[in-house]
Amino acid sequence: MSNTTLAAVATRLSETSVQAALDAEPLAWPDALPDDAWCMSPELVSLYGTPRWDALDEAGRRRLAFFECVNFFTLNIHGERALMEGITRRLYARDLADHTHYLHHFLAEENQHMTWFGGFCRRYAGKIYPDRKLVLPREHAPGEEDVLFFARVLVFELLVDTFNRRMAKDARLHPLVREINRRHHEDESRHLAFGRLLVEDLWRRHAPNWSEATRAAVPGYMAAYLTATWREYYNPDVYKDAGFAEPIRVAREVFASEAATARRAEIESRCVRVLRELGLWPTPAAGDSLEAAS
Ligand SMILES: [Fe+2]
Ligand SMILES: [Fe+2]
Repeated sequence: MSNTTLAAVATRLSETSVQAALDAEPLAWPDALPDDAWCMSPELVSLYGTPRWDALDEAGRRRLAFFECVNFFTLNIHGERALMEGITRRLYARDLADHTHYLHHFLAEENQHMTWFGGFCRRYAGKIYPDRKLVLPREHAPGEEDVLFFARVLVFELLVDTFNRRMAKDARLHPLVREINRRHHEDESRHLAFGRLLVEDLWRRHAPNWSEATRAAVPGYMAAYLTATWREYYNPDVYKDAGFAEPIRVAREVFASEAATARRAEIESRCVRVLRELGLWPTPAAGDSLEAAS
């Protein structure tokens, strides 16, 4: 993938973004959500398939699904904030100059997404959950920070998009929740097309100039980032709001459960495949299992 091809794709995506913005109708926000509304597909609720889920009655499951939806939307807000900060810092950077026009659309769309996610959380839950992510500053090789930043964005967007695609089609969900997921998926399909090509381009241009140790550390870093992103999906604040005693213990137990481990592997498979194709996923040594890293 040459830089010229990437620039052509960015131009085409910019045109689609302009049209999508012109076509968009405002979201319809009801004053309140009915008590019997499903806000997250049951199969995507973190506890699904565990004894704790089985022990809940229908109302308890819906209540948990509502707070999991608020957490999912919250994670989108925090992820998009970090993404917007990172992209804003790189606007008009020489390395990305050919794509600046598309980055403006990217930013505008992420800003709009935050109004959907934030609008839902503030209206119906009266809050968003706090951001628990901790980023430790360190030195980078030339271009490494950009590769890692856009690769993190790609991982985050691939993971979220799997949830969006499934929930956009789930007729059990409240129409507003379905529509937010549908619209997000529509915009994110452009971000993903661009992001994948950009990561490939940056990696090919910069990685050959790094030390072997710097290059070799990237796949492990991506696997650790994916795990850290998953950790936030098991949020003790959600379990507390849903009425569980010992919410931190619930988060720890559920994360380690067989059902949740299998579901993570299934949901992240697309993300892992893309990273593997880009050469950014650990190659198992003979006899090793990647389960621990993913
Ligand atoms: Fe987004
Ligand atoms: Fe995005």
